[in-house]
Amino acid sequence: MWNLKSLHCDFGVEVEDVYLPFLSYRDFEKLRRIIHQHGFGLLRNQSLGAETMVKIAKCFGIPLSGYRPEFTHSEHPELVLLGNIVENGKTVTYLNTQGVEWHTDGTGAILPPNVTMLYAVEVPTRGGETLFASAVKSYESLPKSLRVEIEGVQVVNSFDHHNDRVSTFQGTNVNPRTKAQRNRNPDKVEPLVQTHPITGEAHLFVTHQMVKEVCGYDTNAGKDLIMTLVDHMTKTERVYTHRWRPGDLIVFDNRSTIHSATPYDYPDQRRLMYQIIVGSRESEHKVMLGDEG
Ligand SMILES: [Fe+2]
Repeated sequence: MWNLKSLHCDFGVEVEDVYLPFLSYRDFEKLRRIIHQHGFGLLRNQSLGAETMVKIAKCFGIPLSGYRPEFTHSEHPELVLLGNIVENGKTVTYLNTQGVEWHTDGTGAILPPNVTMLYAVEVPTRGGETLFASAVKSYESLPKSLRVEIEGVQVVNSFDHHNDRVSTFQGTNVNPRTKAQRNRNPDKVEPLVQTHPITGEAHLFVTHQMVKEVCGYDTNAGKDLIMTLVDHMTKTERVYTHRWRPGDLIVFDNRSTIHSATPYDYPDQRRLMYQIIVGSRESEHKVMLGDEG
């Protein structure tokens, strides 16, 4: 079977010598389990076009249309273009000029969160790394008193709370979303601590980017609680930093991990990533990747 190379003592593995487009259904299911068990899986040397990305994403669940339609592939609304690519004087990819702070892509999705596929097409020689932290190990390592305090606590998660803030960054090309777009991803009340539906593990589901309010806490106390949790989750020793190579694909679990990025807004450097966020489905998906060669 495949060799799994550990990337961090808490989570994350490189699955060696796997080429996704040629994977059989049976092997794909093994890979899916590995990703959920370890939080994320790195597959190197992939060669994925937009169509293949979407096809593979459908094996993981239900690909979600991009939250910001202006940065999606012209033929595939599920495929989001991240980076600093300029065409005709305009940045045509989602560009965060200050680095993306800790978050999970599952927040605000209509469907329950599942995985994100992130694929490196072009990478800069500096900047643009992706940082990951485990929401499972972070929960397990919390002081008992804090675990007791947050038991049953709910928060209001809001994608637009995050997006509105990003849209104010200097030099950003991100706009506040339209009313129709906001309605597509309404705010959600969710527990801070959740049980992963596949692994059964308890994990935190929180980032300061997305939490608009902590139910039952006044504003400052709520912010303090969230920052305490996020600081705990993202202590240096708990973070895995991925320096991308072209052809790298990371599939990460949006419940059991959170992620961030380092800045990459350098005019002499190009960064282009394909991203597809996948929601959960009830039943197992039966696409045979190998059959379509
Ligand atoms: Fe993200």
